[in-house]
Amino acid sequence: WAVYAPYVAAINRLKRERNAVILAHNYQTPDIFHCVADIVGDSLKLARDATRVDAEIIIQCGVHFMAETSKLLNPEKTVLIPDSRAGCSLSDSITGADVRLLKQRYPGVPVVTYVNTSADVKAETDICCTSSNVLQVVESLASDTVLCIPDEYLAMNVARQTNKKILTWKGHCEVHERFGAEELLAYKAAYPGLEIVGHPECHPDVIAVCDFAGSTAGMIDYVKDKRPPRVLLVTECSMASNVAAEVEGVDFIKPCNLCPHMKRITLPKILDSLLTMTDEVTIDPAVADRARLAVERMIALKA
Ligand code: 13P
Ligand code: SF4
Repeated sequence: WAVYAPYVAAINRLKRERNAVILAHNYQTPDIFHCVADIVGDSLKLARDATRVDAEIIIQCGVHFMAETSKLLNPEKTVLIPDSRAGCSLSDSITGADVRLLKQRYPGVPVVTYVNTSADVKAETDICCTSSNVLQVVESLASDTVLCIPDEYLAMNVARQTNKKILTWKGHCEVHERFGAEELLAYKAAYPGLEIVGHPECHPDVIAVCDFAGSTAGMIDYVKDKRPPRVLLVTECSMASNVAAEVEGVDFIKPCNLCPHMKRITLPKILDSLLTMTDEVTIDPAVADRARLAVERMIALKA
C-alpha cells in the first residue's frame, strides 16, 4: 500500500482540480478499481454512465474501444486514456472495410456489433451490443437472420438462446478463448461445492459447464447475491481480486487469465495522464456521427 498511497492521493487531488472523472472497467486492478475510480462497471454500465457525466474530462481506465465509446457519447468533452496502446484482440479482428464486404455478401441482414470494436466498425453497424444485452438486441430486430460480429463465441452462445439465424465472424477474446471445458470439470471434481461462473466470450463448450454465464457485472452480482462457498470466475484475473475485497466467506479458486491490454493501465500512467492531458481520444466527426447512432440505439433499449 505504501507504494500505491502517494499515487492515489495525487490522482484524487488532481482529479478534483481538473474537474475529471475516472471510469474504470471491472478488469482494472484493485488499486485503480477501489481507490481512484469514480464509476466502475461492465461495458454497458460504463457506456450508460458516460451519458450522465458532468465533469469536463473523462479518464477511461480500460481499453481503447471503451474510451472511444465515451468520446462518441461526449463529443464536447476531453476523453483521455492513460495508454492508447491498450487494445483488444476482438477489436483488432475486424475493420470497417470488412463490415462493408459482409454487408455486400448479406444484403438486408442487420448488423449487430459488439462494443469491443473500433468506431470505424461501429459506423458500419445498425446497432451495438454488449455481453449483457446481446440477446435483447438480437431479439429487438425484425429480421430472422442477424449478423452478430466480431465475437464468434458470443454469437454461438446467443444462437443457442434465440430462434434467429446468427451469422458471425472469426474474432475471439484472447483472454477467454484460453479456457477449456475439461480443465474446468477437473476443478469441479477437485473442489466439492465449486460453482463455475463464466463470461459469454468463452467457447460454448465452456459455457455448457458453467453454473452461470453473464457479463462481468452479471458475474459479480451472481457472486454477491448467491455467496457460493467456492467460486471459479472464468475470466480476467482482476475480477476475482476486486470482488474478493467486497464479499466475505467466498473462496475464489484460480485459474484466471490476464488481459495484457487492460494491464497497460496503471496508477503512474493515470497520474501522468492527468498531469499531461494525454493520451487524448479523437474520432473523425464523419465516422463518429454514424458510430454514435449504433451506440445510442443500444442504450435506448430499456434495461
Ligand atoms: P463486459 O464487462 O461487458 O462483460 O465485457 C468484458 C470484456 O471483455 C471487456 O473487454
Ligand atoms: Fe479484449 Fe478480451 Fe481484453 Fe476484453 S479481456 S479487452 S475482450 S482481449
